[in-house]
Amino acid sequence: MNLFKFRAGELYAEDVPVRLLAEKYGTPLYVYSYNTFLRHFKAYDNAFNDYPHIICFAVKANSNAAVLSIFSKHGGGADIVSGGELYLALKAGVQPGKIVYAGVGKTEDEIRFALKTKVLMFNVESEDEMREIDRVAGKMRTKAPIALRINPDIDPQTHPYITTGMKKHKFGIPIDEALEYYRIASRLRNIDVVGVHKHIGSQITKLSPFVDALKRILLLIDKLNEQGTEIKYLDIGGGLGISYKDEEPPVPSDLAKNLIPLLEGRRLTLIMEPGRSIAGNAGILVTKALYLKKGQDKEFVIVDAGMNDLIRPSLYDAYHHVVPVVQNRRSKVLSDVVGPICESGDFLAKGRLLNRVKKGEYLAAMSAGAYGFSMSSNYNSRPRAAEVMVKGREHYVIRKRETYSDLL
Ligand code: LLP
Repeated sequence: MNLFKFRAGELYAEDVPVRLLAEKYGTPLYVYSYNTFLRHFKAYDNAFNDYPHIICFAVKANSNAAVLSIFSKHGGGADIVSGGELYLALKAGVQPGKIVYAGVGKTEDEIRFALKTKVLMFNVESEDEMREIDRVAGKMRTKAPIALRINPDIDPQTHPYITTGMKKHKFGIPIDEALEYYRIASRLRNIDVVGVHKHIGSQITKLSPFVDALKRILLLIDKLNEQGTEIKYLDIGGGLGISYKDEEPPVPSDLAKNLIPLLEGRRLTLIMEPGRSIAGNAGILVTKALYLKKGQDKEFVIVDAGMNDLIRPSLYDAYHHVVPVVQNRRSKVLSDVVGPICESGDFLAKGRLLNRVKKGEYLAAMSAGAYGFSMSSNYNSRPRAAEVMVKGREHYVIRKRETYSDLL
């Protein structure tokens, strides 16, 4: 459920016409819906109400501090993968005790920063990293709480670039070697083993990979208990998909219904790291048609947003609905919606039947709230877009459009 809807032929973000926002703030423009973020966050929080849990929003999906603060105000934590994300999460008021820190390549500076901050735990991805964290913690005369990221070898049946939990991937520790790694960890003096972590991939549209992976991890936790290692935190990662086109992914309550029975009777705190399923449909990218150009068998709609603003179509061949911000009854034309960047891979949509677009009109790429702005860049020396939050009738800039001087 999201709050981008057509009313009398015009696209609205909550109670504000998107056209008005494009006119006021310019394009390309990221527009977010406050109440959609909140609703999605609460859908998780309420679904898991009966079990001790922390919802740690995956900051990589959308790292705008104004977005993060919506979750922190409602008791949410953060899943981070860099010092920069830690900095932003803290600025947004996230409690350090609700921050989990993943990533295969944490640097010494980042480890120090996280130890000084006292994050809830490091999700450790290799033996080398575990030893480095132990060394840095020792130097700081402190203990580092860790979970090991376990790779359960489950195929989440999603895009290969966003699949992470199989043997062939760089992430985590193979499940059949996990006990040995935990033994090593428990012998390190400055390490405090507190958890188990897994994350198998993103845009997962079925329940079974979550259930199968959890079952495998619980068997491991049983063995760890026998070995005398007490696990307090079970972090099951993120990955729930959203509907970009016609997918019908499970919702948080489906996840809860299927996972909580497996956890009953265990004294664990469950951690989840959703990113896309909270933020994806809470944002859109608004762009303006600059030129129309006739191709051989289709029309090119050249817009002012490019792959530097939204790279998902170019990188993953991802589908985003592209709609006119003000509907019309013109005839349908086979269209490619392309950006101004000097690459053939620069497109928002290909081979779509769109009502003929006219120069100067606004279009919206939907479902762009996750991995949209956060993956944007300055490629072709393009200043990055502005981000605007809409809350009911209110709207305000949450990140200014970059200017040429930002490029220096
Ligand atoms: N936890 C970990 C350890 C992760 O690596 C990720 C995403 C998440 C949580 C959040 O997953 P989500 O709930 O958002 O599926 N740029 C790609 C997605 C990359 C996902 C990377 N890891 C895209 O645009 O589709």
